[in-house]
Amino acid sequence: MEQANKAFVSRGVERLVTGVPTSDGAGVKLTRVLTQQLQQRLDPFLMLDAFGTDQREDYIGGFPDHPHRGFETVTYMIAGRMRHRDSAGNEGLLENGGVQWMTAGRGVVHSELPEQEDGRMEGFQLWLNLPARDKMRAPWYRDLKAAELPRVHSAGGVEAVVIAGASQGVQGAVQRDTTEPLYLDIVLPPGQRFSQPLEAGHNAFVYVYRGSVSVQGSKVASRQMAILDNDPLAQGVEIVAGTEEEARLLLIAGKPLREPIAQYGPFVMNTREELLQAVEDFQAGKFGAPVAQ
Ligand code: FE2
Repeated sequence: MEQANKAFVSRGVERLVTGVPTSDGAGVKLTRVLTQQLQQRLDPFLMLDAFGTDQREDYIGGFPDHPHRGFETVTYMIAGRMRHRDSAGNEGLLENGGVQWMTAGRGVVHSELPEQEDGRMEGFQLWLNLPARDKMRAPWYRDLKAAELPRVHSAGGVEAVVIAGASQGVQGAVQRDTTEPLYLDIVLPPGQRFSQPLEAGHNAFVYVYRGSVSVQGSKVASRQMAILDNDPLAQGVEIVAGTEEEARLLLIAGKPLREPIAQYGPFVMNTREELLQAVEDFQAGKFGAPVAQ
């Protein structure tokens, strides 16, 4: 095994979180890992859902037409195929290893529907907040195929997909000025380690979805989220895989906005008045409607 980097001080685990089983859309079963109670602590992130099933009835209903305003959704598909259509005229197929990054801004209506009758469906949806000044900006959308996502490879078979931010000098697929998100999907063979510098003051967490890891001596099991502490002396985080099996995990970090968060379902604004306006605008048809299917 490689020697630990003695000069590197890692953040530790402040708290382990086990997600809450729930369902959303038309009966899609999922685990809400980052819940509303953690929005302040993990600012600028508002939600993380994990879904993973071989049972068609757990996903076949998909997410029919629904609106969003005031934030960004980042969907990362590990396995399966989902078709996306929205009121801004965008359409895309999200599949095996691909990412869809959507900035709802002032409002979109979209549908996310499975394009498979059986087989495995697995992935994640992260909600990233927008600063007050950008909440009413025009919607933006990008589909990134697995082959378009930058990757870093290091000794021992360690690999990371750089969805946002940067790692080991490799710029990720998406950059954001205000929230400075880092979004990595990391594969660690048994016993291997991965270090990532993190900005002091940025909030960060890890979600393990295969195998197990340890961070500063604390074990993080499969399907657990570890909220990393904000130790001002730490330069980042060092993650070590368990010795028995390969580990796969998400490492997500960002710069907190420190603005009031007002949420009503799929609308996330700063005040109650803005939420009421969102509902009114949606009901008045101001978000438009997705292309007929
Ligand atoms: Fe959605």
